[in-house]
Amino acid sequence: MMTGPFAPPPRLLMGPGPITADPRVLRAMSAQLIGQYDPAMTECMNEVMALYRAVFRSANEQTFLVDGTSRAGIEAALVSLLEPGDRVLVPVFGRFGHLLVEIARRCGADVHVIDVEWGRVFEPEQIAAAVRSVRPKVLAVVHGDTATTMAQPLADLASAVGDSDALLYCDATATLGGNDFATDGWGIDVVSAGLQKCLGGPSGSAPITISPRAAEVITARRRIEAGLRDIGDDEPARPPIASNYLDLAQIMEYWGPRRLNHHTEATSMLYAARECARLLLDEGLDAAVARHALHGRAMVAGVQALGLQVFGDQRHRMANVVAVHIPDGVPGEQARAALLADFGIEIGTSFGPLHGRVWRIGTMGYNARHDAVLMTLAALEQVLRAYGTNPLPGGGVAAAKEVYG
Ligand SMILES: Cc1ncc(COP(=O)(O)O)c(C=O)c1O
Repeated sequence: MMTGPFAPPPRLLMGPGPITADPRVLRAMSAQLIGQYDPAMTECMNEVMALYRAVFRSANEQTFLVDGTSRAGIEAALVSLLEPGDRVLVPVFGRFGHLLVEIARRCGADVHVIDVEWGRVFEPEQIAAAVRSVRPKVLAVVHGDTATTMAQPLADLASAVGDSDALLYCDATATLGGNDFATDGWGIDVVSAGLQKCLGGPSGSAPITISPRAAEVITARRRIEAGLRDIGDDEPARPPIASNYLDLAQIMEYWGPRRLNHHTEATSMLYAARECARLLLDEGLDAAVARHALHGRAMVAGVQALGLQVFGDQRHRMANVVAVHIPDGVPGEQARAALLADFGIEIGTSFGPLHGRVWRIGTMGYNARHDAVLMTLAALEQVLRAYGTNPLPGGGVAAAKEVYG
């Protein structure tokens, strides 16, 4: 069967991510490929490392991209840090905490979990107490969990860990670039992310940064593939990393001066990641955080004016996503489908205990913009009315405009 070129319909992606990519990123991705060991490629990779040190606010030499979606970054971090039997502590406050647990278990780790109800975050002392009792090798935590829209405060995490020596891992996929984040300032050892949220790109590349202390732990497990081994590439002191593709010890050598052959670079994604970082740094990290805060506030004011009730502890909501209770009597999935069919606007459904109870609406990356917020609110008002609620005419747009001043 012959099919034509794929022509995606025009959409405004206002869910919890992915979001509409910034056109600058799409243009960067259309550049021609170059060879893996072309000096221009090496220069591009070194630039990407430097750009992401700034994005992560870190001096870590080991800052680069894992080729794959955000989940590849998480899995690379955990499989490279955790040996079978190692203790890991995961504070779970949403779906992505459960993902960390799932991945750590598959690494053969001895996984300890603390929970809070979805819609809340942990007090630093709750985490500190768990660290004291578990004494984990790794404390693995999500920063912003898009499943609940909550962001766990992390600034005090290092002091919560105290003198326990635990390595801190953080999944900042959903928050990086749109919420304050300070890898070195907060004492976090390993952070991984993705492009498809506040960074305004497509999914498929996972920026990661690794502290010297964590890099040492990983390097002790380095086993170079037989076909590439050189003098000095001895068997590792510690059990080798169970994954080959996500083996950070080899990937560090691939991005480092040795340029060890590992995978074939996902060159178009490298271009995308480079442009995402350039966009963010051109704007300025603080300005981007302020922009996400402003448009997030406008969206919240707008949905509340439409009569929707926001979900979760608002003091700890991520700037870039809000969850709203689906009003009684409104068929959530049909209403979402109508928003897509009639207005080309996508908002998110939800998972687990929130499935069928809330919609999730994002304002992030390229779509943290006045027009995107106002159009979404105007369209949502029409859909809500069509399904029998009685929102104040023009109320959502007016409330958002008031926030804009
Ligand atoms: C907090 C968080 N972590 C991880 C992921 C997984 O990312 P990916 O689908 O790119 O693998 C997501 C995706 O929504 C996320 O929000």
